[in-house]
Amino acid sequence: MSRRNKIYEGKAKILFEGPEPGTLVQYFKDDATAFNAEKKGTLSGKGVVNNHISEHIFTALDAIGIPTHFIKRLNMRKQLIKAVEIIPVEVIVRNIAAGSLSKRLGIEEGTKLPVPLVEFCYKSDELGDPLIADEHALTFGWADEDEIDALREYAVRINDFMVGLFSAIGITLVDFKLEFGRFYDGDDCMVILADEISPDGCRLWDKKTGKKLDKDRFRRDLGGEMEAYQEVARRLGILPSADVTEIADHKKKEG
Ligand code: TMP
Ligand code: ASP
Repeated sequence: MSRRNKIYEGKAKILFEGPEPGTLVQYFKDDATAFNAEKKGTLSGKGVVNNHISEHIFTALDAIGIPTHFIKRLNMRKQLIKAVEIIPVEVIVRNIAAGSLSKRLGIEEGTKLPVPLVEFCYKSDELGDPLIADEHALTFGWADEDEIDALREYAVRINDFMVGLFSAIGITLVDFKLEFGRFYDGDDCMVILADEISPDGCRLWDKKTGKKLDKDRFRRDLGGEMEAYQEVARRLGILPSADVTEIADHKKKEG
């Protein structure tokens, strides 16, 4: 898979040392998890599709002035990224009630929110990414006030852009999760968008039929996950013909 040193392995991606100082290689796996990895599976070709979808969205965000860690896609499963220090605050943006918001507050799934809702969660697998307030991040030093402002501001701009992007291809952007990092450039430190944006971390509903085109198909045992992810890629105008399920990831090659 890679001769470079592994820096970190997460649930859906692996980070390797990059070719230059300050860079990393981000490898997209086919592994799928849900409910804090209580449910595990493999979706053949997911890494390939998510790599391409994330490239497409990060490139578009860069073009509208959102700074990101993305440098370039290297191959089917890898991208070159800037090394950042991940801010342990996950940012969730919601346009329509679903998932944990519906459960937590008893709001029927599908209820349109009057304005986009930005939520913060503490990034901790052991604790199940609990919902937090700004004050928790400040009190425990997870982010300072300027960073919290940047997270909220970027999240709203990214949401505005992505709602339009998906709407144009007949998809409602229900909600999504973002991660940001600190990028050090000499003495300067700036907050930039990190991680990925793909159907793993978004809720995407077909506008006409309401069909779920995201990881809820896996979470809720609906089946047809790869067809749904590929449908999103196809509508975005990427991966028009490749049969991604044939592009093995390292585990299959090794095993
Ligand atoms: P939630 O309704 O489960 O809180 O999820 C909100 C959105 O955030 C949904 O699109 C899925 C995404 N998400 C992740 O990407 N990773 C996570 O760990 C969680 C909890 C949610
Ligand atoms: N990403 C989290 C997990 O793998 C939660 C989720 O997406 O449902 O457990």
